[in-house]
Parts: sequence; C-alpha cells; structure tokens
Amino acid sequence: MCGIIGYIGVKPANEVIFDGLTKLEYRGYDSAGIAVVDNGRIHCRKDIGKLRNIRKLLLDEFQSESTIGIGHTRWATHGRPSAFNAHPHGDCHTSLMVAHNGIIENFMALRRQLIEEGHKFVSETDSEVLAHLIEKYYNGDLKKAVLEATKKVEGAYAIAVIHKDHPEEIICARKEAPLLVGLGNGENFVASDVTAILQYTRKVIYLENFEAAVVKRDTVEFFSLESGENIVKESTTVDWNPVAAEKGGFSHFMLKEIFEQPQVIRNTIGGRTSEEEGKIYLEELGLTGPDIFRAQRIVMVACGTAFYAGCVGKYLIEDLVRIPVECDLASEFRYRSPLVDGNTLVIAISQSGETADTLAAVREAKSRGAKVLGIVNAKESSLTREVDGLVYIHAGPEIGVASTKAYIAMLTALTLLALMLGKIRSVISSDFVKEKIRELKVLPQQIEKVLEQKDKIKEIAANYLNYKSFLFLGRGFNYPTALEGALKLKEISYIHAEGYAAGEMKHGPIALIDSEMPVMAIVTQSDLYDKTISNLKEVQARAGKLMAIATEGDTQIRHLTDQVIEVPKVSDIFSPIINVVPLQLFAYFVADLRGLDVDQPRNLAKSVTVE
Ligand code: M6R
Repeated sequence: MCGIIGYIGVKPANEVIFDGLTKLEYRGYDSAGIAVVDNGRIHCRKDIGKLRNIRKLLLDEFQSESTIGIGHTRWATHGRPSAFNAHPHGDCHTSLMVAHNGIIENFMALRRQLIEEGHKFVSETDSEVLAHLIEKYYNGDLKKAVLEATKKVEGAYAIAVIHKDHPEEIICARKEAPLLVGLGNGENFVASDVTAILQYTRKVIYLENFEAAVVKRDTVEFFSLESGENIVKESTTVDWNPVAAEKGGFSHFMLKEIFEQPQVIRNTIGGRTSEEEGKIYLEELGLTGPDIFRAQRIVMVACGTAFYAGCVGKYLIEDLVRIPVECDLASEFRYRSPLVDGNTLVIAISQSGETADTLAAVREAKSRGAKVLGIVNAKESSLTREVDGLVYIHAGPEIGVASTKAYIAMLTALTLLALMLGKIRSVISSDFVKEKIRELKVLPQQIEKVLEQKDKIKEIAANYLNYKSFLFLGRGFNYPTALEGALKLKEISYIHAEGYAAGEMKHGPIALIDSEMPVMAIVTQSDLYDKTISNLKEVQARAGKLMAIATEGDTQIRHLTDQVIEVPKVSDIFSPIINVVPLQLFAYFVADLRGLDVDQPRNLAKSVTVE
C-alpha cells in the first residue's frame, strides 16, 4: 500500500514526482504530497484527495525549481485520510522529510518515548516516528541517522528521506516493502514500483530487505542496514514498455486491460509450447524432477482474484495431474499451523508479488519444509526472490485496481503447468497435450469475439444499475468464475454480490431468490450443462431475474432468459478463461454507468503490502 518516489537530477523535481505519483496512484489514493529541498529549506505540499483534485497544489502552484525531492501517495492504515496525515512527514523543525510505505508496528512505544524526549507530533500516523527518530540521531550525517533510526523500528518499511542541509542526496531503505532505484543520466530515481519511472529509465536496481542506498545525481551507493557496510548490486533492464502503463485511448485502465487479454494469453504461452512434440516448457520453473515427483499434494495460497485463479488451478490439476489440491487464502494459511511438509508443493499466486499475506504464507510453508512455486506477474518482486521455482505470467503492468488481465494470465499459466505436470506424471498423453496446445493458440481470437460484444454487454448492464444484490452461479471449472465475477462487481460497483456453486442453491441460497435478486449464470456447454440448466429452472420458477453466459448457438437457454451473452465453444479446461471476460465487462459497465471511479474504487489499493 502507498507509493513512494524520489528524484534527484536536473529536471524540476515536483514535475517528475507528480508524474510518478500518477503512475503509483493505484497503490493508494487517499491523499498525496511532495517535498523538495529548496535553497536550504524544505518546501512541502500535501493534501487529502486524488491527484487530479490536488494537482493545482502539487504541480501548477508548486513554486520551486528544486531538482531534488520525494513524493507519496497514501492508502491509510494508521490515521484517517487527511491533510495532516498525508506524507511526506517532517521532524520538529521541518529539517527533513520522510515518505514511508509499510507499517511501523512499535510506533506507539516509540512515539511515547519521543514525546517524553520533547518531540512534537502533528499526525496520527505510525510513519511520523521515522522522521523524529532520524532527527534524534542526526548529527550532520543523514545516512548514519537513517541507519540508527531503522534499527529502532519493527515492522515493514520502504522509505525515502531528504534533508534541507543535504541537497545532493536522497537516502532510501527497505524492509518488507518494495523499493527500487532507477538509474538515469545525471539523474536517479527511487520508487515503489518501476511503472513510476519507466518513461525516464528502464535500468533499475531492486533493493532487498535490510538494504539501503545513498542516491545522488551521478552515483548510487548501496549499503546494508544490518552492518552499515557498502554492498555491490547489479542493475537489470526492465522489458516493460512505458506505453503499457498508459491508458492508450481507453476511458479506464480496467477497460484497456480487459481488451489486452488476447495478447496477454499469447504472451503467457509464447515460446512455452511445442505443438509438434506435445510438450510444455516452463523454463524458469526452477524445481527439479524429484520435487515434482515427490509432491503428494499441492496447496495453493493467494488472496483475492489470485485466490480464485488458484481455485481454477485446483480443478485443472486434479483433472489433468490427479494430485489432490487444496486452496487456502494466504491470510488464513499463515496463522493456522498448516499441514504442509516436504511432500507438499505449495503454489503461491500473485500479480504484484508484494502481497504481505501471500509472502507470509510462503515463509510459513518453507519453514515447514515445503517447496514453493510462485506464479507471479511483477518481475523481480519480493515473491520471486523467496520461492524455489517460478512461472512468470507475462501480463505486463496492471494498473486498474480490479485485476483482469493478470487473472487470465494466471489461468493460462496454471493450465500450462497442469498440462506439463500431467504429461510428466503420464496421466495425459502427448496427443492430448498437442490438441490442447492447438486449442490454446486459438483462444485469443475466441476472446476477441467476446470483446466484440462490448456494446451488447453494456446494454444488458444498463438494466441492472439499481439492484442491491446479485448472485453469480457456476459449476465445476466455472464455480470459481462465479466467485471472481461476484468479486469484480463488488469491488468496483459497490453492489453486494455472491458467487455460488449452482448445485448448492437448493441447500439455502435459493431462499434469497425473488425479482429483486438478479442472477448471472455461467452455463456454457460441459458435462454439467443439464444439471446447471435444472438449477436455473429452479431460479426461474421463483421469479428470479436471469442473465446467462452461454455457448454460441445454445437455444435451450433462450427458454429461460433472453439476456444471454454468447461465448465460443471451448474445452472445459479453457472455459474459465473465456467465461470470465463478459463478467469483467459486465462489472465494468455497471460501475461506469453508475458514475463510479472504476480504476480507483473506494477503500481499495492495488497491492496490499500490509496485513
Ligand atoms: O497482487 P496480488 O495478486 O497478490 O493481489 C491479490 C489481491 O489483493 C487482488 O487480487 C485483489 O483482490 C484485486 N483487487 C481483485 O481485483
């Protein structure tokens, strides 16, 4: 949560920082602020609200030519969203400023102690203690003061610090919150996420836990927060295109990302399949044959949409590999003494690779001897460094808070994994894999056909703007699709929605059905088609308002409803990939037509780096 950025170079710092904050805003958008060092003084502007509403303060009327500064966009944890809780935070004399992402867990005790020592606090945040601690330890050496201060704090932090008497340096440090340094020409950057600086440089160095840096215009010096010793780090060149982090003519990032999905599938499968051999190559997997053969069970750990991808993964792997799979919410798994050991393969799924609960679940699994495979989008994110094996999903930067293309890429990667494992374990044949590779390759065109129905889906959505509650029904492979469809609607339209296994309706939820409860049914052709139709008849008999996602040419469904979104026929194992697309568009249009901020829904942030 929260995005931080720092700039030192030749350009007006507030312009570069404001621009970077617009790219980081998906991480939090309660309030934002910028501070620069200007002629031996700190100049800081911050306020509550989204960047577009406080642009005047932070950009247009920010009178400073300073070329060094830091910025922050906030997702409130400690202290309500307000101007005084907005970052950056200063010390008693506004000599220095700190932008912080993370949570300082012992801040109450530190705050009490600092107040006793005479420090005056102006905010309710945990972060402000960092500024006062650095002030306390400062005696002319900013690096040393940061080093001392970070020794006192418990919890997670990525920080960027500037001081009025140090116009030539930004100090940054990291523990359990993402941070990187971007290397330019006569200018350098600090950021939570590479998208913030992509338009200036693609050459970056990621900080590990307990690492810090002194960032100057022409040099960057890394050091360890534990020993204080200098460390040598290698840079990497990020292959993400800066244009990928722009809206490119779409009204929202979410819509753009939905439309990118055919290409995302091509990217996820690119170079990983051999139709001729009937083989899948997941080169970067990293796990050895015995790790895979030894696994007697698989446990998926993830949160939110990534968790629902894991639930589809369960159906895929149990079907194609015949290994028992459990799905666990990472936030539950980490605290319940999970039953995993050396015979368990844990699969951790995450778009950001920074979700605190997922990272903690991985550490828990590893401490119990399990091998962990990561299915991750963000390159070089924390998760990628903690797992034993890795499959990148190659979805590119996802900015919309509601995850769409990353979900589809996760499903594609899980399908590849299941096909590969099924083949290795001789559950499925080369011919089967060949056939599925062929089908996988035409899936992007089939999704394009669904996207062509955008206007029709918008028309259907327009009928449902004022309902208070929705049910999403699916069975088998598409039970998780129902859960994901409901989550999409909830998080961006603020309408209550529940996903249910269609066969479970009669065991309780059918009591909810009346004309005020629209039902979205996923009823594409599969072995469970007839059974699902029977479940829908039960809904119809109770005056439920029904919409359906059905296979092209299905006439039977027309007897139940005329609000049908057709999708091309695909094999069962690919149906969750195609069926979720109309649900994403449906949620998008309901939210947009209700006039809501689709890309930045209330109370949410893109990556949840706190518990
Ligand atoms: O970055 P991750 O995939 O680990 O994030 C997990 C969830 O926080 C995320 O999927 C969240 O549920 C999305 N907002 C859903 O659209």
